[in-house]
Amino acid sequence: MIVVAGPREARRLRRKLSAPVGLVPTMGALHEGHLSLVQRARSENASALASIFVNPAQFGPGEDFAKYPRELEADLAKLEREGIALVFTPEPSGLYPPSFDTWIVPGRLAERLEGAVRPGHFRGVATVVLKLFTILEPDRAYFGQKDAQQAVILRRMAADLDLDLEIVVCPIVREADGLAMSSRNVYLSPEERRAAPVLHRSLQAASAAWEAGERRGDYLRAAALAVLAAEPLAAVDYVSAADPETLAEVETAEGPVLLSMAVRFGATRLLDNLVLPEGTAL
Ligand code: PAJ
Repeated sequence: MIVVAGPREARRLRRKLSAPVGLVPTMGALHEGHLSLVQRARSENASALASIFVNPAQFGPGEDFAKYPRELEADLAKLEREGIALVFTPEPSGLYPPSFDTWIVPGRLAERLEGAVRPGHFRGVATVVLKLFTILEPDRAYFGQKDAQQAVILRRMAADLDLDLEIVVCPIVREADGLAMSSRNVYLSPEERRAAPVLHRSLQAASAAWEAGERRGDYLRAAALAVLAAEPLAAVDYVSAADPETLAEVETAEGPVLLSMAVRFGATRLLDNLVLPEGTAL
């Protein structure tokens, strides 16, 4: 496994790999969720690449950029075990030199949900992901449904900018108690960690309502909110029942619905989601 920090060197080495090439972009602190993307990329491509970069451009002021978990050595060992050919580990100054002045600004899709709470977040994500695509020239790029809005926005970007690659969205990997795996779960206190599976339970409540025939967005949202409201440590930022393509809230669902939520436990924000009917791909 080759580890490379320089963008030019990374491109030169990438061009020696056999095609097709699958890329898994990450911010590191790798867990089973990330590794499921890596395994998928390995199984579907001749070569698999990963990037590890805690992207300053997608963190707002007052967010956790400085304290975001950084575990480079352990991450590289995990990637090596998974059979990754090349890992790109750029420095912030390598991707954003002082003269840097060009941004990818997603449109309406980035105004909703996470975008409404974290202004500029998806501009930072789209910009760094396009740079990774340009440097590493993947044939396929793998993202998790865990960050559903991110996946929807990046798929839109790839189509809108005529990128010659496929965006593959992979299912959410969960802990045994239902909590979606996340690098930020380490911030939870023991009490918060015990309470956190309420997100998954609330999604299941909405799914049960759907299975019983409920199609009204308000009622699906209310089914999830009722479960969240019973957990005193959970402070709800939003619960959304939206069209998976436009991310517009649905009044009455005529097709699949993306049920998504952001919930705070103390200073930690957790995200989770489900596409209804369960099993529908994003
Ligand atoms: P990061 O949070 O490190 O996540 C990297 C990828 O792993 C994302 O596509 C994310 O959706 C996926 N992932 C995280 N937890 C998952 C889980 N429990 N199950 C399945 N997939 C999971 O997302 C980012 O980094 C950044 O925004 C990035 C795309 C790298 C751009 O900086």
